[in-house]
Amino acid sequence: MPTVACVLLALFTVSFAQRPDFTHHAVLDPNGNFQLNWNPTANGSDYFTFECVVATRGWIGLGFSSNGAMAAADMVIAWVDASGNLQISDRHGPAQGNGYPPVDSKQDYELVSGRKNNTHTIITFRRKQDTCDPQDWKITSDTTRLIWAYNDQVPTSADDISKHTERGVKSVQLVNPQTKDGMSAILADPSTVTYDFRLTSVTLPTEKRTLYWCEIMELPKWNKHHIIANRMLVQKGNERYVHHLVMYGCGEEDMSEHLGKPAACFDDMGVFNPMHKCSSYRAIWAVGGEDFVYPSNMGAPFFEDPKQRFVLLEMHYDNPDLKPGITDNSAFRLYLTEKLRPVETGRITIGLPVSPVWITIPPKQQRFTTYVYCPGKCTSRMTEPINVFTGLLHTHLLGVAMRVRVIRNGEEIKSDMRDDHYDFNYQTPVYLSKPLVIMPGDDIIVECTYGSMDRDTMAYGGYGSDNEMCLALLEYYPKRNLTSENCMSFVDPKNLTEILGLKKDQVSLGSDGVLSENVVTVMNKNQQNVTIADWYKNDLKVTNEMVTKLQNYMKNSPQAVFCNLQGKDDEGGNVTDVTFFQIDGPIENNRPYVEPPTVCSASTGSSLAATTQPTQTTTNHGASKVFSEVVHEYIDVIRKFILSRVESSDG
Ligand SMILES: *[C@@H]1O[C@H](CO)[C@@H](O)[C@H](O)[C@H]1NC(C)=O
Ligand SMILES: *[C@@H]1O[C@H](CO)[C@@H](O)[C@H](O)[C@H]1NC(C)=O
Ligand SMILES: *[C@@H]1O[C@H](CO)[C@@H](O)[C@H](O)[C@H]1NC(C)=O
Ligand SMILES: *[C@@H]1O[C@H](CO)[C@@H](O)[C@H](O)[C@H]1NC(C)=O
Ligand SMILES: *[C@@H]1O[C@H](CO)[C@@H](O)[C@H](O)[C@H]1NC(C)=O
Ligand SMILES: *[C@@H]1O[C@H](CO)[C@@H](O)[C@H](O)[C@H]1NC(C)=O
Repeated sequence: MPTVACVLLALFTVSFAQRPDFTHHAVLDPNGNFQLNWNPTANGSDYFTFECVVATRGWIGLGFSSNGAMAAADMVIAWVDASGNLQISDRHGPAQGNGYPPVDSKQDYELVSGRKNNTHTIITFRRKQDTCDPQDWKITSDTTRLIWAYNDQVPTSADDISKHTERGVKSVQLVNPQTKDGMSAILADPSTVTYDFRLTSVTLPTEKRTLYWCEIMELPKWNKHHIIANRMLVQKGNERYVHHLVMYGCGEEDMSEHLGKPAACFDDMGVFNPMHKCSSYRAIWAVGGEDFVYPSNMGAPFFEDPKQRFVLLEMHYDNPDLKPGITDNSAFRLYLTEKLRPVETGRITIGLPVSPVWITIPPKQQRFTTYVYCPGKCTSRMTEPINVFTGLLHTHLLGVAMRVRVIRNGEEIKSDMRDDHYDFNYQTPVYLSKPLVIMPGDDIIVECTYGSMDRDTMAYGGYGSDNEMCLALLEYYPKRNLTSENCMSFVDPKNLTEILGLKKDQVSLGSDGVLSENVVTVMNKNQQNVTIADWYKNDLKVTNEMVTKLQNYMKNSPQAVFCNLQGKDDEGGNVTDVTFFQIDGPIENNRPYVEPPTVCSASTGSSLAATTQPTQTTTNHGASKVFSEVVHEYIDVIRKFILSRVESSDG
């Protein structure tokens, strides 16, 4: 071989080795001018390596922010200077507003490599996951708002950074594996088949921002397959309106009479249309989500039973500006294989039922939390542990944090199924690097924390974007018998409204168990019968005392538990039925999980290391053993209502 070729090859190899292979990738701006590649931890060290590829020959800036604003954000600015030298500057946003970012007293970003060509600047740098510098962001598995900026002007020094010409913000998950990993292998595999569920010409209303659109679709008569990936094909231009999609199985129910008759999922009273008998949840996509790819040994069963012929597609559209003339033909694509994989997955939902008398969030609160209790009495029905490997944590606009806590023998275990920086517009599933194991008998608490500073009236549970939810939609392996299972809990609705100043006989909960915002009515002080939605808006004056009582009530009151898990009962018999029972107070979490503190070497001179022990506040306020009569009465209607949705599900 000629020597020249050998030399070239050697050169090529050297430069290639200097640039690490990046496992994670995101395009931060809509035009693809700011691309980011990164490795969560390079070779097991606690360093994160980032590569910015930006269409500029000036400076580039990347920041880590809790809310997308520049104030108090951790920022780094880098450029190739006029002499061709690489420059980097660790900075932070001003305490308030969007002014000039001061330089950190401690520099924690290290240059790895960089260059620029005629159009682009490419700079690679690294930093520790936790730099122990209070002026830096500690990288966690939460959603991170990355702020990005650049300017074509080349700085002459770190004191000469001109104002950005372009900037923006993009939410990403920096730590966990990306849900789209492995997509190229699936696309390249000739045994992969696709099946599209396409909505046809849905016209968005202009009188309300939220539309839930439901369409029944008939499945082809295929052999059993595994779903190995899915992708949302959002119609071009409709990205801001298509909010989320859920696909439900209809069990063995014959839904043929609904074919070709798509319609709104609820009427004005918030009551489901008959299609909503389909309730076993099979797949989900939400705004911000990318392709979802199953681990290579796993698949979710599909077409497994020829008697299960129908699915329901439920699409949530959000049109906040009430823009007229929007029609949508988006589709949801499943990637399937007939080469069945060794491990099958199943789904469980743990959350609060959606109602204005089960979820209430007072206005002007920095943080207000609702609690779902799924006690060991329910999980002990499982015959073996389940491994939760992914899940969608779902609230609406006010959600700021959410976590799934698992308590085993009185001690909370580590759970990464959590997000302290929730972003309504970035609902990509949490994809865990290590599964969260739930053992039979474990207690589960789901906490949803809301921030309502910009609200003037009570926010409450409902299906609209302005209303709230609290649901952890978890996927696990190995699959159990039901296609989807639920564990929900809820407070006594009349005791809740009593805290808000209503006497029990002023409130009428309706008779169909739906308890939606237009069904629950209140006799107001003028002896008018109004919906609870109107009463919250026009009559309720929220006081501080009420907020304190309400927060205490949401956390510490007895709750009714709806347990829909198949398995064994206390005596070893088989349970296939849904059961309701009550718990007298909250699930105790006396030994909460404490994150081990970062070891900060003395040389860093940082005073950050203090870890705060979470304070133990869960107490049983001696709540009555007997659920109030109202709940007993309503357990029956709720049971009827939920059963009407569950009975038709597969299993
Ligand atoms: C990890 O180390 C190996 C061997 O030293 C090297 O080949 C590889 O490129 C490194 N990976 C990263 C992501 O730095
Ligand atoms: C400059 O580098 C970028 C990023 O690697 C590349 O996409 C672009 O094609 C390059 N431009 C030129 C003119 O070489
Ligand atoms: C599921 O059902 C099958 C057949 O009825 C049974 O053999 C199996 O033990 C069940 N599995 C679980 C986890 O309940
Ligand atoms: C209030 O109106 C609703 C329907 O509009 C009705 O169902 C309810 O019974 C009424 N309540 C009273 C106390 O009149
Ligand atoms: C429960 O179901 C399993 C599997 O179907 C069966 O083997 C077992 O005998 C059943 N147990 C009881 C107590 O019915
Ligand atoms: C509801 O309030 C009544 C007193 O008005 C109390 O006796 C009962 O235990 C409470 N029930 C629940 C479930 O909080």
